[in-house]
Amino acid sequence: MTELANQQAETLLDIRGLSVEYLVGDARLRAVDKVSFTVNKGETVGLAGESGCGKSTLAFALAKLHKPPALIAEGEVLYKGRDVLSFDDEELRRFRWKETSVVFQSAMNCLNPVISVNAQICDVLSAHHPEMNRGELQDRARELLKVVGIHPDRLDQYPHQFSGGMRQRAVLAISLALKPQLIIMDEPTTALDVVVEREIMDQLSELKKQFGFSILLISHDLSLMGEITDRIAVMYAGKLVEIAPSEEVLFNPQHPYTKGLVNSFPHLLGEKKELTGISGNPLNLYSPPAGCYFEERCPERIERCKSTDPALITLNPQHKAKCHLLG
Ligand SMILES: Nc1ncnc2c1ncn2[C@@H]1O[C@H](COP(=O)(O)OP(=O)(O)O)[C@@H](O)[C@H]1O
Ligand SMILES: [Mg+2]
Repeated sequence: MTELANQQAETLLDIRGLSVEYLVGDARLRAVDKVSFTVNKGETVGLAGESGCGKSTLAFALAKLHKPPALIAEGEVLYKGRDVLSFDDEELRRFRWKETSVVFQSAMNCLNPVISVNAQICDVLSAHHPEMNRGELQDRARELLKVVGIHPDRLDQYPHQFSGGMRQRAVLAISLALKPQLIIMDEPTTALDVVVEREIMDQLSELKKQFGFSILLISHDLSLMGEITDRIAVMYAGKLVEIAPSEEVLFNPQHPYTKGLVNSFPHLLGEKKELTGISGNPLNLYSPPAGCYFEERCPERIERCKSTDPALITLNPQHKAKCHLLG
């Protein structure tokens, strides 16, 4: 096999020029703007950026879960080479559980309060594996709870008897039930305290080693994702502004926005420094500028930034950033 063919064989998800817009009255708000990146088999990719930059909109669109007023303006989402956006209902149903599983922000509140955790796990299993009998379903449910660090004796309890962290673990168990190859997680631990958050992230790393799935982990917290991701993509106002191996993003960021974002979080490792953050407010997407979307807030802006939107520049095969200073 040539090297190129090898690389292609490794790609699981290939997002190509995806744009998602919201129709609001007569206006079209472009929440995701020509975003392209890949997630390889067994890889964990982080998607970072401030609130409102389009992360959730992108996550929904990836699984064709977007609803009006959101619409796909252009682009493709290739999963194993096939465009998810062209799937019919039956293909989507299979794709969403067996191939991919999506865990959203408030997932732990999505558990049905009047149904035991056991029944909820078994429901998912039996819907896709009608051949499994009751005993097999129970065994698998117990196994899944153990895998996410919950004692199987708690299987028959109801969600309200679980702490927030345990509910989120239970959601993780459900998302693993059908052995998906890709898990899309949108701020899966944001509602939890930092200790529980870290525990769940550690668990996720373990599970990944065990099962070998890929993860697209969405978070606004760079330091958290740095620990488990292989690469990090950074979005600003709907556009991908930088993508690189996690260490590069955290310790050698090239885009001024990424630099600001990195400086907004304390590094767990490395020397202590004053947190500078990013001044100014996120862009108003209703009236985007002609030039670089970050220009207004950019401490390094030059003349060209006001008039021309920079291209995504390839700094090396693994590192791309969208900035005139790099061109
Ligand atoms: N249903 C909606 N109608 C109109 N605009 C929306 C809707 N949902 C999100 N948006 C807008 O799309 C942009 C991206 O939002 P979102 O994807 O939720 O960002 P993030 O997940 O990064 O916080 C924001 O400007 C938000 O206001
Ligand atoms: Mg979001």
